[in-house]
Amino acid sequence: MNAPSSLLECRGLAAGYGGMAVVRDVDLHVRAGEVVALIGPNGAGKTTTLLTLAGELPPIAGEVLMHGVETKVPLFRRAQRGMGFVTEERSVFMRLTAAENLRVAGVAPLDAEALFPELTPLMQRSAGLLSGGEQQMLTLARALARKPALLLADELSLGLAPLLVKRLLETVRRVATEQSTGVLLVEQHVRQALAIADRVYVMQRGHIVISGTVDEVRGRLDEIEATYLSDAAALTEGPAPKPEAR
Ligand SMILES: Nc1ncnc2c1ncn2[C@@H]1O[C@H](COP(=O)(O)OP(=O)(O)O)[C@@H](O)[C@H]1O
Ligand SMILES: [Mg+2]
Repeated sequence: MNAPSSLLECRGLAAGYGGMAVVRDVDLHVRAGEVVALIGPNGAGKTTTLLTLAGELPPIAGEVLMHGVETKVPLFRRAQRGMGFVTEERSVFMRLTAAENLRVAGVAPLDAEALFPELTPLMQRSAGLLSGGEQQMLTLARALARKPALLLADELSLGLAPLLVKRLLETVRRVATEQSTGVLLVEQHVRQALAIADRVYVMQRGHIVISGTVDEVRGRLDEIEATYLSDAAALTEGPAPKPEAR
């Protein structure tokens, strides 16, 4: 049992829409100070898992625990208990300036600039006029400047150039290490995510099919990408491969 030391944990989680599970039998946990990557092909159920962990979707079965205690409260209450959530949808207010985007979230622009000095000359600009990368820096800065104990981030770096992906992920890594933030990161940029993560869960068709430390899976990355992460793997008919014991 990982409960006592886990910031976030789920056991036997089934989750989905309208009572239909698209994710089943999910056990995972995140401890303080560790970055955990959740990877898998499109449609595997990563976003559904995060939404359920965040309290945006009710579990169909199983339980979600924060700080070792089962919780059923909605996201805003989980946020009060230290959960930050960067959703898959880009969530900046395009007509507000960068500074206003921070202030409406109760974040001082200076705290965001400490994380991303790149934002300093952009603070008075409408968020809608920022590049995709700048918008994501703003989004991540807004979440991290509130010093969450736990951060869930869904496709933070979607569609961004490799250098920006690296910049965002390295910031996540640094904050996790320096502030003992526990991070659960859904990422398409698998190799870059694993470069900064401690552990990884691979999800395929609603199941966790591999879990382990990054060191354990590093030697198998080619195989994992071909077997589990490619679009072809996502579309393969038939039962999901037997989950590996770990
Ligand atoms: N709002 C929704 N209503 C019904 N089904 C959904 C909804 N959102 C996602 N799904 C389905 O749930 C499955 C998992 O989706 P999702 O969690 O978004 O996967 P991922 O984030 O790994 O790409 C997919 O088959 C998807 O079509
Ligand atoms: Mg998704």
